[in-house]
Amino acid sequence: MPRRLAMCAPDRFDVSYTINPWMQPDQWTIKRDSLRMQAKNGWHQLVETFRGLGAEIDFVEPVDGLPDLVFTANAAVVLDGKALIARFRHKERQGETAIFENFFRRLSTRGLIDQVHMMPEAVCLEGAGDCVWDSTRQCFWLGFGPRSDRAAADILEKIFGQTVVALELVNPHFYHMDTALCPLSGGEILVVEAAFSPADLARIRDMVGSHNMIPVPPDSAARLAANAVCLGRDLVLCDCSHELNLTITEHGYRVHQVPLEPFALSGGSAFCLTLALDRRSRQVAQAA
Ligand code: ARG
Repeated sequence: MPRRLAMCAPDRFDVSYTINPWMQPDQWTIKRDSLRMQAKNGWHQLVETFRGLGAEIDFVEPVDGLPDLVFTANAAVVLDGKALIARFRHKERQGETAIFENFFRRLSTRGLIDQVHMMPEAVCLEGAGDCVWDSTRQCFWLGFGPRSDRAAADILEKIFGQTVVALELVNPHFYHMDTALCPLSGGEILVVEAAFSPADLARIRDMVGSHNMIPVPPDSAARLAANAVCLGRDLVLCDCSHELNLTITEHGYRVHQVPLEPFALSGGSAFCLTLALDRRSRQVAQAA
């Protein structure tokens, strides 16, 4: 279970451009000051929730002109002490690569990361946001299409030596894998069915078994409920329906709701705002 997380305070958070359907700068501007205040409050509550669950947090310094830097899930794919730094699809976020690279180089001088890898020029991969680790099946779920390229699968396999299951994200609202799918520590998986083609949905069901599929209904998907952080038996998310909360609880998890609504106006929520730095695959954990 990850215990060390990277986060970035929303001091420069803003919705000033549109790179996904959730982002509407005109709407945002009307209530900008109060939304930014709510964002800061919610983010601090998220920090306190993680600390209460025993996590340690390393902070990326906010940077002027990079409002989405707060979404540290997109910084890199991290597993077994290796970090593969993101290459972003849109020019609006490309400036973040150097900041995140720097952050990981500093972690490596502190002995918290062993290797820092960069993506080749031509291939996009937006970090853990599109490459979700499944500790039960020991595989990455890679979402490709809107932000990351399918070709990232080979690079991931080479660097991490793990299985990569590549699925196309077909719904523009669920443009990163972490908005569409969330593996829980006990083997269940939250899935936004509308995010995938029928064939890929069948593939997910085949891989995890119907009994492990917890569908996220449209009302909860619209609140980005699948964008949740699972720490053991604790699940941290912004909001979901009462029914989904009950289902998750019946599977043996404690649901922690944190008010992160302003981040949804940028297309993000709890998982996007964090990055696990100390995940280990079973192979490496057993060798240690
Ligand atoms: N506005 C950001 C973008 O469109 C939100 C990123 C959310 N991050 C995530 N891992 N889903 O890139």
